[in-house]
Amino acid sequence: MKDQNQLLWERVRPLLKKAKRKDFILHTKKLVRAMNELLESEKGDPKILIPAAYLHDVGWSMVDDKLQTSTNKDDRSLALHQHIDFAPDITRPLLSDLGFDKKSIQKIIKIIISHKFVKPKEHDSQMLIDADTLSDTYLDSFESDCKSYHSSPVEFLQFRSRNSFYTKTAQDIFKKHIRVLEVNPKIILRR
Ligand SMILES: [Fe+2]
Ligand SMILES: [Fe+2]
Repeated sequence: MKDQNQLLWERVRPLLKKAKRKDFILHTKKLVRAMNELLESEKGDPKILIPAAYLHDVGWSMVDDKLQTSTNKDDRSLALHQHIDFAPDITRPLLSDLGFDKKSIQKIIKIIISHKFVKPKEHDSQMLIDADTLSDTYLDSFESDCKSYHSSPVEFLQFRSRNSFYTKTAQDIFKKHIRVLEVNPKIILRR
């Protein structure tokens, strides 16, 4: 029998496929992996945090394609805001269909809408932001993002190296990721 996370992924995957800004399927898979790694050392409820991880970027599925891929700064900012604004209306019915109770849905939505533009004090919300940032420094995400953002690996590695984190656990995992990226032949060869 499929567990709730598998059922959730079946619903989320087609939504993420619609989003054009980058490979959100890969990004979300890596974010879930990062969240599981954080949960090995950090306190948090996986029944809330894993669904929040799967769903955090579903709002992109409703953002206009042209806005997502625009090089204009204002367009990009509007798109970023919209992916947060659209998230609750997609998330609420989806979780309700899967049998999540109202309180859990509220908690999950609160975490999702706090992953951009705010500096949350709640540990749960901070963990999602850390997992979101970490997800982009796994080797395959890094390479995929270089293509999506038309950025050179060297420039992009410098940009990613400036990432900061709320939790020490994320900071430690991040250091390992950066070491992998710095010595990776695929990246070095393209310098
Ligand atoms: Fe996001
Ligand atoms: Fe994200």
